[in-house]
Amino acid sequence: MTCRRLVGKTALITGGASGVGRATAHRFGQEGATTVILMDRNADALPIVAAEVHSATGANVIGFAGDVSRDEDCAAAVALAVEIGGALDILVSNAPAHSSAPFLELERSEWDRTLAVMLRASFVIGQDAARAMVANSTRGSILYTASVSALGASKEYAHYGAAKAGMVNLVQTMAIELVDYGIRVNAVSPGPLDTPQSRDVLGSDEAMAAARERWPLVPMNRLGKPEEIAATYAFLASEDAGYITGQNIIVDGGLRAHSYSIPEELMAR
Ligand SMILES: NC(=O)c1ccc[n+]([C@@H]2O[C@H](COP(=O)([O-])OP(=O)(O)OC[C@H]3O[C@@H](n4cnc5c(N)ncnc54)[C@H](O)[C@@H]3O)[C@@H](O)[C@H]2O)c1
Repeated sequence: MTCRRLVGKTALITGGASGVGRATAHRFGQEGATTVILMDRNADALPIVAAEVHSATGANVIGFAGDVSRDEDCAAAVALAVEIGGALDILVSNAPAHSSAPFLELERSEWDRTLAVMLRASFVIGQDAARAMVANSTRGSILYTASVSALGASKEYAHYGAAKAGMVNLVQTMAIELVDYGIRVNAVSPGPLDTPQSRDVLGSDEAMAAARERWPLVPMNRLGKPEEIAATYAFLASEDAGYITGQNIIVDGGLRAHSYSIPEELMAR
């Protein structure tokens, strides 16, 4: 039985038409959120996901077609949330720019695009949301999807890791500057997840099925579920997390807890 900790709240979720964003919309609706605005650049998927979440939860779910790397789209999404919900209580900044390339071949244009979508946009929409919360005296919650890639290196992910690491530091600064307004700011860092983004990386349904069965290095030996990130967001957005701000909560099946273990074949037994 899901708790109902977000009754009456208005939430804006970027990247809301798929994966973590979609699962979070479901969870927020189940927890009683009144209005959920889904911002996504995939205009075709938005009405389908909005209808699905509305019919499953009863929340008023509105799709907003926009690109987080465009300042005017971020401002319009926040304004829409305030207009429809009366105030913005929760922002989940979650839209990714995802690609990989060896460091020696990484295009500077790809570096710029990645940092624009994941770091600059995090600042822009976070600032817009915080300004709206301060203007309305809303003791809100601002949440960011970072990654375990923020905390250590992944081959061919220099741009992605740098953007996510910057996001974690941004969260800390926002948290201490916004604390006097009653606004809490936190990040969640997932390990590898069972979402379309991972399907794109692995390249086939067979590889994805194999990854679901076995993911070496993750002590739980499986991909995380988007619902497991959504559940963490519901907690962080709620009063249950009222004393938590400036944190980066790692949800990774134990991946980051593991330093190293001696390989079986090298063990003297
Ligand atoms: N999938 C993983 O293994 C994994 C691991 C760690 C962190 N993450 C992070 O989780 C978050 C969610 O990823 P996901 O796995 O749910 O991805 P996903 O591909 O399932 O969904 C991402 C959504 O964001 C939208 N989007 C992309 N660029 C956008 C833009 N510029 N403006 C607006 N919308 C945009 C897409 O259309 C899509 O609907 C991302 O921040 C990602 O970096 C994912």
